[in-house]
Amino acid sequence: SDLKAYVAALPKAELHLHIEGSLEPELMLKLARRNNIDFPFQSVEEIRKAYQFSELQDFLDIYYQGMNVLQTEEDFFDLTMAYLNRARADNVRHAEIFFDPQGHTARGVPFGTAISGIVTALGMAKMQFGMTTKLIMCFLRHLPEEDAFETLDQADPWLDHIAGIGLDSSELGHPPAKFKNVFAKAKDMGLKLVAHAGEEGPPDYVYEALDQLKVDRIDHGNRSLEDEALVARLAAEEMTLTVCPLSNLKLCVVDQISTHPIKRMLDLGLRATVNSDDPSYFGGYVNDNFYALIDAVDLTKDDIRTLCENSFKGSFLPEGQKRAQL
Ligand code: ADE
Ligand code: ZN
Repeated sequence: SDLKAYVAALPKAELHLHIEGSLEPELMLKLARRNNIDFPFQSVEEIRKAYQFSELQDFLDIYYQGMNVLQTEEDFFDLTMAYLNRARADNVRHAEIFFDPQGHTARGVPFGTAISGIVTALGMAKMQFGMTTKLIMCFLRHLPEEDAFETLDQADPWLDHIAGIGLDSSELGHPPAKFKNVFAKAKDMGLKLVAHAGEEGPPDYVYEALDQLKVDRIDHGNRSLEDEALVARLAAEEMTLTVCPLSNLKLCVVDQISTHPIKRMLDLGLRATVNSDDPSYFGGYVNDNFYALIDAVDLTKDDIRTLCENSFKGSFLPEGQKRAQL
């Protein structure tokens, strides 16, 4: 359609993308063979069939299993390069990429192995096709805050390559406040701060992310809509929400794309953006997320332009570089 062609052609930034969640079944099988990993799946079809989730934890169990095939620096390079090339095809000009160091160090893969492969690919994308990127290291919230501190220490030699920290994994039972000390330290170090909040967790978790973690962005934030005062505050503070429609569908945060609140978010004055989260697991990259919305929700051309503009406004690019993209 007209709107789909319009989306496809618009420059955009992606602000919520877990690099490990861009691991496609084809590459997963290739790396399992390359690394002689004992692996439960024999084919791409078998892997895809396993991707049926009724909540976040169902997905996380499979996501952590999938990352077992990532062993060497080359594996992380191949993973990252595949995402950057795919994002480029969607006219993503700037990507702020999450990685989960503890998902690797817990398996005996050193922090440096993971980040060096990722950083090499980011440099190549800048050189080869001018894509800019930022790297955001996430702490796994189901683990103790002490482990997050240890991970922050491991990042020390790599701080020139790390723009910020995030908070992901199992949300319920692990409120943002659990990580307030390590977020305070990261803020002192000059790092940007983001956290998943209000995906499955209640509005209180969004308040905690704002008040106790002092985040620069909220990842997801869907459940903020249950609290009118919170919505007013997010709008007044021009807080960016990195919303992930196909993820919300696959993890049953929404029943159907037609009831996805993206349009309502815009109408309420929230700075919402569209992102793919874990595209290999949730059925599509960033343009696929827009296409699904266009088919099911009455987004206008203005809405689409606003969403893409928001992605640059909400990015951690320097102001001058944001303006150049708008
Ligand atoms: N890790 C990867 N994707 C995630 C998501 N959508 N929520 C929480 N943790 C995640
Ligand atoms: Zn996420």
